[in-house]
Amino acid sequence: MTASADHPLAADALDGLWSDPPTLPTKWLYDERGSRLFDEITRVPEYYPTRRETEILQEHSASIAAATDASTMVEFGSGTSTKTRLLLRAFADRAAQTGNGFTYVPLDVSTEILESSAVTLAADYPGIAVEPVVGDFTAPDLALPPAPGPRIVVFLGGTIGNFDDKERAVFLERLAAALAPGDFFLLGADLVKDTGRLVAAYNDKAGVTADFNRNMIEVLRSGLDAQGLYVDDFDHIARWNPRRHRIEMWLRARRDIDVYFEVLQRSWRLPRGAEVLTEISTKFDRRALDDELGDAGLPVVQTWTDGAEDFVLALSRR
Ligand SMILES: C[S@@+](CC[C@H](N)C(=O)[O-])C[C@H]1O[C@@H](n2cnc3c(N)ncnc32)[C@H](O)[C@@H]1O
Repeated sequence: MTASADHPLAADALDGLWSDPPTLPTKWLYDERGSRLFDEITRVPEYYPTRRETEILQEHSASIAAATDASTMVEFGSGTSTKTRLLLRAFADRAAQTGNGFTYVPLDVSTEILESSAVTLAADYPGIAVEPVVGDFTAPDLALPPAPGPRIVVFLGGTIGNFDDKERAVFLERLAAALAPGDFFLLGADLVKDTGRLVAAYNDKAGVTADFNRNMIEVLRSGLDAQGLYVDDFDHIARWNPRRHRIEMWLRARRDIDVYFEVLQRSWRLPRGAEVLTEISTKFDRRALDDELGDAGLPVVQTWTDGAEDFVLALSRR
């Protein structure tokens, strides 16, 4: 699909590709193909976060449903909602016991994945109202659907790590403003650990993460009608930034790149060896994360971790 000049992809490309270093927002990794590749990443042996977070949800979803007694769950960046099924089961069981209804609002930028998952979920959980929203959780006018009882916003998969420190503070501030007193926020965050394991998780041997990252080039090529832009001209790079406690994914030019973007009516050059930043994945310290949530007006009431202490789920109450 080719974007028009006023499409957000055009604005983000204009903003990012001419920056130093060139940078593109991570959300553009998630077109339909990118979302399917991410789903595949969750199953590669090196990518531990999904398995760890699943382990925590298997153990504690029923307590989360009981502790929050939420009537509505809004999930940011829901993707295929695979792990969320554990929470949905727990909330559906609770709704059946209490006789109260329960609504699930998955919100994602990736339209096709969102809509196909919502259809399957609605069929699998007849007791739950599934109301998908195509949306951007970084939108300045972030709003949550009204609900008859407490709401819980869930943000899983370590996606919070895709923000830098400043963006994260803005996001948490907007979220705190959108929540009403008594609402909940359930956050899944990946913890700092051995660098070798971290880098391997973003550079799997089968090359699925490389395909996922390089798919950004295809998104740009097709979306901005780019001439001279080819996926095969880029290498996937994943490295640990020790100063900023984060994995960074880059696309490195294999040769001098000369592109003309028809939609932008602009040329872009990237010399051989130069890199474009496509994703950061910040890793957290448990105590610092608690403090950060508390400072944002989202005090943590309970946290859970997996057996290996790789990943944390933090439940905050507004
Ligand atoms: C790392 S994946 C996590 C998917 C799933 N929650 C999980 O835990 O496996 C990030 C998800 O967030 C979505 N996403 C990324 N940026 C977004 C944004 N700005 N607004 C809404 N969704 C976004 C992607 O499409 C993708 O489904």
